[in-house]
Amino acid sequence: MRRLAVVLALLGSLVVATPVSAEPRHEVTYDKYSLMVDDERVMLWSGEFHYFRLPSPELWRDVLEKIRAAGFTGVSLYFHWGYHSPSPGVYDFTGVRDVDRLLRMADDLGLYVVARPGPYINAETSGGGFPAWLKTVPGRARSGDPGYKAAYTEWLSRLNPIIARHQVSRGGPVIAYNVENEYAVNVDPAYMQDLQDQARAAGIDVPIVHNNCCHGDLANWSSGPGAVQIPGVDDYPQSFECGNPDAWGPWGEGVTRRLRDDAPVYAAEYQAGAIDLEDAGYDKCRDLTGPSFMKVFYKNNAISSGATMFGYYMTFGGTSWGWLPQPNDVYTSYDYGSAITESRQLTAKYDEFKRQGYFMTAVAPLTKTDAAAPPVPADPVVLARARANPDTGTQFVLVRQADLAGTADVSTTLDWATPDGRYRVPVRVAGRDAKVLVAGYDLGGQRLAWSSSEVLTHVEVSGRDVAVLYGRDGEQGSTVLRYDSEPTVRVLDGRVGSSYEHGDLRLDYTHTGLARVLVTGGGRRPLLLMLGTDETAADFWRQDTAAGPVLVRGTSLVRSAEVTGDRLVLRADTDRAGEVEVFAPVRHLTVGGRPVVVRRTAGGSLVGSLPGPEPVRLPELTGWQYRAEAPGQGESGWTAADKTTTASPIKPKTLPVLYADEYGHHNGNVWYRGRFTATGAEKTVTVNAITGRRGIYLVWLNGRYLGSAAGGTESDAEPVNPDPGRGDFAVPGGLLADGQQATLTVLVENMGHNDDWTADDVRHKQPRGLFGVVVEGSTAPLSWQIRGSRPVDGERGPMNTGGLYGERAGWHLPGSGGWRRPPGALTPGVSWYRTTFELDLPRGHDVSLGLRFEDTTARDYRVLIFVNGWNMGQYLNGAGPQREFVLPTGVLREHNTLTFAVISTGAARGDPGEVSLMTLGNHRTGAAPGR
Ligand code: GAL
Repeated sequence: MRRLAVVLALLGSLVVATPVSAEPRHEVTYDKYSLMVDDERVMLWSGEFHYFRLPSPELWRDVLEKIRAAGFTGVSLYFHWGYHSPSPGVYDFTGVRDVDRLLRMADDLGLYVVARPGPYINAETSGGGFPAWLKTVPGRARSGDPGYKAAYTEWLSRLNPIIARHQVSRGGPVIAYNVENEYAVNVDPAYMQDLQDQARAAGIDVPIVHNNCCHGDLANWSSGPGAVQIPGVDDYPQSFECGNPDAWGPWGEGVTRRLRDDAPVYAAEYQAGAIDLEDAGYDKCRDLTGPSFMKVFYKNNAISSGATMFGYYMTFGGTSWGWLPQPNDVYTSYDYGSAITESRQLTAKYDEFKRQGYFMTAVAPLTKTDAAAPPVPADPVVLARARANPDTGTQFVLVRQADLAGTADVSTTLDWATPDGRYRVPVRVAGRDAKVLVAGYDLGGQRLAWSSSEVLTHVEVSGRDVAVLYGRDGEQGSTVLRYDSEPTVRVLDGRVGSSYEHGDLRLDYTHTGLARVLVTGGGRRPLLLMLGTDETAADFWRQDTAAGPVLVRGTSLVRSAEVTGDRLVLRADTDRAGEVEVFAPVRHLTVGGRPVVVRRTAGGSLVGSLPGPEPVRLPELTGWQYRAEAPGQGESGWTAADKTTTASPIKPKTLPVLYADEYGHHNGNVWYRGRFTATGAEKTVTVNAITGRRGIYLVWLNGRYLGSAAGGTESDAEPVNPDPGRGDFAVPGGLLADGQQATLTVLVENMGHNDDWTADDVRHKQPRGLFGVVVEGSTAPLSWQIRGSRPVDGERGPMNTGGLYGERAGWHLPGSGGWRRPPGALTPGVSWYRTTFELDLPRGHDVSLGLRFEDTTARDYRVLIFVNGWNMGQYLNGAGPQREFVLPTGVLREHNTLTFAVISTGAARGDPGEVSLMTLGNHRTGAAPGR
């Protein structure tokens, strides 16, 4: 309904110039069954999307269109405090951080939004979404401590008004407001309540929700101080062991608990992918959480729990570009094994989302169900569970194997008392499969008594019903429809047997390809019934138009549909040449702005053919140029590092405090310079640095490279690690002379900040930078200076660069001078490489590109990848699984400058390994109107 309203508004050429839509206001309410908008029940089937992991707003629309095209009715959106705030009091909501624009897009597309402003979000992003400056604020984060309260009040005072003006109640898309995130341990109810009070004071009037992490006795905010209106549950039943993609529910059955009797059951974060904790690569995560898992766990959850609110984490994962990754759990890619890949391609998981999403949203009685007595399977290997709508009587029966992990292929019958009578229904349940069968359903103008096939969707076109049912390829299916008198059955395609008895028209068939049956007469309007397989069902797209919903078969994506007169206008993509078929009240078809020659089929649809994409030709990356960055190069930008106290609960090993955050340097690499008067008796320099996992640091003394070491991850309060990231570097004989000044130069990487999942303040306040330095054999005081990033690059934001000299001098930006031929060798320290390339991509195509690195693992270096100045991630040669980096359109342009900051820990022959552009997707596309 909401989508239809949007379509109508757009057709009325209503130009929405302000964030507040001119649509009438609506009221969001709820009861124990579902959310309601103006008393109409809503199936909130939403996918999680992180705008901050896609630094190209034009592509937000692409991803949101894909999410909507799969049948999602909403998106869940975290808002990332640190992404918007480089320093206290400074907030930026422009450009890639323009969340007003994001919310407008969701609104344009008719998607509801669950707004998730934190302040803490976790999300495997640096600091769990906290700005790193919070590390220097006294007081425990995620509590009512005044220091923290002042900080988060600042964030919410900027963000809440934006969210508030996009609420459903003001004609926008925001239907719920999620406070905090998995707030379960070390909790402070007054803080939880204050977040809600602040939201209400800012005009948030939609239901307030929370995503609880854990089963058991931990706080779940369903009652008592700090309780929310709709407490939801997070569930990751498949775990994050992507290295073992055949795992099956190691973390439980994944059924969402009801936490309040007066609110809908809410699967707030349901596993739709995984972080790659085992460096297995995200394709393995996609396998771990693939269609079988989705069928069994999602359907089991929907029917066993009766949830009508869902958030699937992640539906599109994206890229932790710049210094966004939280280093303990993730690397640059946050593909997540999602249904939509990091390069925005649709996968088999997308198809499964579509099959389930179309069903969940097309069959309205699902929004109000109670648990019901299930039919009894003749074979106890099969388990049935049921729900029924108390008003319509429609029944929903889940069939799966009693043993969730069972692998038998079982055929049995259900003894099923449906609203239309008692039947013996044949069902087949393969191992690791599940189905939701429907009985007693008014399918448009038809009466579906029952079916052993699953319902994909149905629409009404020109006075007839068009329905798609499906089952596994090769499985038998039966469908019974009720008629007043015997109807006429015409099998247009495939093999379908039919019989009529006592008002029941029974169709029997084997699912293969796409069968079509036309049923006319019998006292009802005509029905075109299509019986497909998993695969052929996924070829359908459903879109709403002002003339009602339409179906399209074929193309790789239908972004939008519009009926103008007797013409259907599609914005659709193709990844190969092929057929397109439309079921719509029209006689003509336009796709991507071009009329398509069509013919009418016996079933009343129109069929035509569409061209595939043109080939993509990519340039080779040649003509590399080089610039060296000397250790500690340049005299400007250094500040004294002389603090002797810190608000951090973690105290340094030696003074002064050298934590980078204390000096306002929160991202990327930091240079240090320590001066002392030598005696000549110095033997060893012992350094402790904390970088986060996989970070490194490099040490020079009087310009001589002493070596590098792995940085520490943390120095916990309990158990205390007094020696994190320790390196001992021998002082070469004769390097220092008595009475002369010596200079230690240290480059310390900051891989990102830890999260604060445990709300204990100790993890996320882990320092970054030097933790202690001791020159053994010397008692002379060291006087320190530090140099980190320059004030923010307004366009790319606070997390794009650190404090490399080249970053400060803009070498990562297009157009800098002073480059020469590469030396053909890596030297310890920082060196810069650059080339330019032109892209000549076919017009009207959506081409997704990536960058691939090839090298032996023998050389120890890492590369910060800058594309037109945007830091698109970090390649670690020889560490971690990532060799391919997605480069989004928008960051990529026609003329491009690719710049590498290379940090090598040793000397080695050759420049960085082979690097090439690669095509990750190529679609002829219905050009997206960007806004
Ligand atoms: C949840 C958390 C998310 C994300 C996810 C794992 O516990 O709420 O933010 O961290 O786990 O990817």
